[in-house]
Amino acid sequence: MLTDIERRALRRALEIAADDAVPLGPNPRVGCVLLSPGGGVLAEGHHRGAGTAHAEADALARASAPLTGATAVVTLEPCTHVGRTGPCAEALIDAGVSRVVIARRDPNPVAAGGVDRLRSAGVDVELDVPEELATAAQRLNRGWEHGVRHQRPLVTAKLALTLDGRAAAADGTSRWITGEIARAEVHELRATSDVVLVGSGTARADRPTLTARREDGGLHPRQPLRAVMGTGRFPALSTPEGSGEAITLATHDPSVALEDLHARGRRHVLLEGGPTLTAAFLRAGCLDELIVHLAPTLLGAGSPGLGDLGITTIADRLDLDLVEVTPLPPDLRLTLRPRAA
Ligand SMILES: NC(=O)c1ccc[n+]([C@@H]2O[C@H](COP(=O)([O-])OP(=O)(O)OC[C@H]3O[C@@H](n4cnc5c(N)ncnc54)[C@H](OP(=O)(O)O)[C@@H]3O)[C@@H](O)[C@H]2O)c1
Repeated sequence: MLTDIERRALRRALEIAADDAVPLGPNPRVGCVLLSPGGGVLAEGHHRGAGTAHAEADALARASAPLTGATAVVTLEPCTHVGRTGPCAEALIDAGVSRVVIARRDPNPVAAGGVDRLRSAGVDVELDVPEELATAAQRLNRGWEHGVRHQRPLVTAKLALTLDGRAAAADGTSRWITGEIARAEVHELRATSDVVLVGSGTARADRPTLTARREDGGLHPRQPLRAVMGTGRFPALSTPEGSGEAITLATHDPSVALEDLHARGRRHVLLEGGPTLTAAFLRAGCLDELIVHLAPTLLGAGSPGLGDLGITTIADRLDLDLVEVTPLPPDLRLTLRPRAA
């Protein structure tokens, strides 16, 4: 059980870990708050990306008072491996920390083992954190965790659809199918992914910038890598000052594209269509989550929201699990996942 002070410290550790200035991959985002035996905050620290100090080392370096009997509240299990920095579990033990609160176990086999190491040194380890905070810790690094488990980035596809399942009108126009709230959410999704990907057909039809913008139209401080997939010609993405790098993935194979993005240290891809590319990812089993913005409007004709999946009979349909339905007036957001076979 956590004390109220530890619960507050964990909320704070999650907040500093999510700092907009910290890149999303290939390292996890981690926060640490050090508490004195009396519950006062001794220091805070967070990891700022590959090659920088881990959150625990950052906090330890900032603490001026002795740490004997202190509590470390961390968003991710302290590591036990020697990488560019030393093992954090060891650093906490050496500093005299006597209790460690951990929101999330480390899924990375190379780094895991912190809990056992701390316990073997007599440190009291608390893993029973409130569900809401455990979920926040999991969501903070879901792209990174996916990369550790599957060696490829997490792929979230976002579709804006009319009630009759159209992604564009017969003349190719699709702006705008959804309302302002749904469109603002797309920019949040872009800022919390580290790649925005479209097919070359969308690049040709829409000439999108694929930047993450705030409501006032200014650029979000965190910009995704912008990628267009295809082998044909398409106009270069316009690149306003402050936007992320733009690349071409000259392939039709989703696995090859994801391998390339993984090698670039990217861990969460927001696939923004169009219908042909989204279908290709589904067919290849490379789509992990689907966010549909469903608008209460009809077109009756125009391009379908999804290209051919190669399904010819109802028994072969691709079922999805509906995870959540959220109103984004006047639209609805449906969050879905392909059903595990
Ligand atoms: N409502 C929405 O959410 C939404 C979102 C995006 C787009 N749209 C609309 O969708 C329309 C464009 O649709 P689209 O289907 O042409 O766009 P698309 O899926 O973005 O692009 C299709 C093109 O991507 C390339 N490609 C890359 N990987 C592929 C693969 N595995 N299989 C086949 N082709 C691959 C091919 O071009 P190459 O010859 O270059 O290889 C193909 O012609 C536009 O009207 C746009 O406004 C709607």
